[in-house]
Amino acid sequence: MTRIAILSALMEEQHGLLALLQQPHKTTHAGRDFWLGELHGQSVVLALSRIGKVAAATTATALIEQFGVARIVFTGVAGGLAPGVQVGDVVVASGFVQHDMDASPIFPRYELPLYGRSLIACDTALSALLFEAAEAHLARVGAGFDASSGVAAHRVHRGLIASGDRFVSAAGESVALRSALQSAGHEALAVEMEGAAVAQVCFDYGVPFAAVRTISDRADDQAHVDFAQFVREVASRYACAIIGAWLGLL
Ligand code: ADE
Repeated sequence: MTRIAILSALMEEQHGLLALLQQPHKTTHAGRDFWLGELHGQSVVLALSRIGKVAAATTATALIEQFGVARIVFTGVAGGLAPGVQVGDVVVASGFVQHDMDASPIFPRYELPLYGRSLIACDTALSALLFEAAEAHLARVGAGFDASSGVAAHRVHRGLIASGDRFVSAAGESVALRSALQSAGHEALAVEMEGAAVAQVCFDYGVPFAAVRTISDRADDQAHVDFAQFVREVASRYACAIIGAWLGLL
C-alpha cells in the first residue's frame, strides 16, 4: 500500500487526525515528529510543516526522501483575499504562487527563477476529490443553517492560493497584495505561508500534491484575533471531516 502524507502547519490543525490514527507509531527526523499509521484504511504519515516556506519545504522533502510518500495533501487555514472568500469558507487550491518571490528585473515578478513559471499547479484528480469531500462536509455543517438569519452559508471555492513568509494582518496590505498579483494576471483567493513551498518540492520530485484551506480570517486588521480563535475552535474539526472523507474517496 502506498503511503499518503497529511501535512498541517500547526499542532492545533493536526490533533484531531492524530487522535483517529490507527496503529500510531512516532518517529523523529530532521527535528520533526512523523506519525505513521492507518486512517480510513489508508497507510498515512502525519507531519507538521511548521510555519513558513523553508520549514514547509524541509518537511515535504523529508516526507518524500525518508518516508517514500506517493502523495501529499495539506490541510490548514488561510486568510481570505478575494471579496467573496469569507471566514468559514473552504478553498481547494488549483495551484500556488509565491507572493513574495521577486527576482525582477532579472526575472519577471513572481516567476520562480530557472523554472520558467510563476504558478505550480496541484494534482487535478486529487484536488477534484478534495473539492467533493469539502462540499460534502459544508453541506452537512450547513444542514442546520437558517436561511432567514441573513448570514450567507459557507462555500467551497477552487482557485489560486498565494504563499509568502508574512502573516498578512492589515486590510491595506491585503488589498495591495491582491492587486499586485492581479497586475501580473494572478487572481488569488487566499493567502497562507507554506503551500507554494510544498507544491514546489512536489513538482521537483514528481509527487502529486493537493491542498485544502479553511478561511480563518480576512487577512485584515482583525486577522490575528480571528486566526487564533478559528485555529483553536474549528480548524481541527474541518481537517478531520474533509481529510477523512477524501481518504474514503481515493
Ligand atoms: N494563515 C491564516 N491566515 C493568514 C494570514 N492572514 N496571513 C498569512 N497566513 C495566514
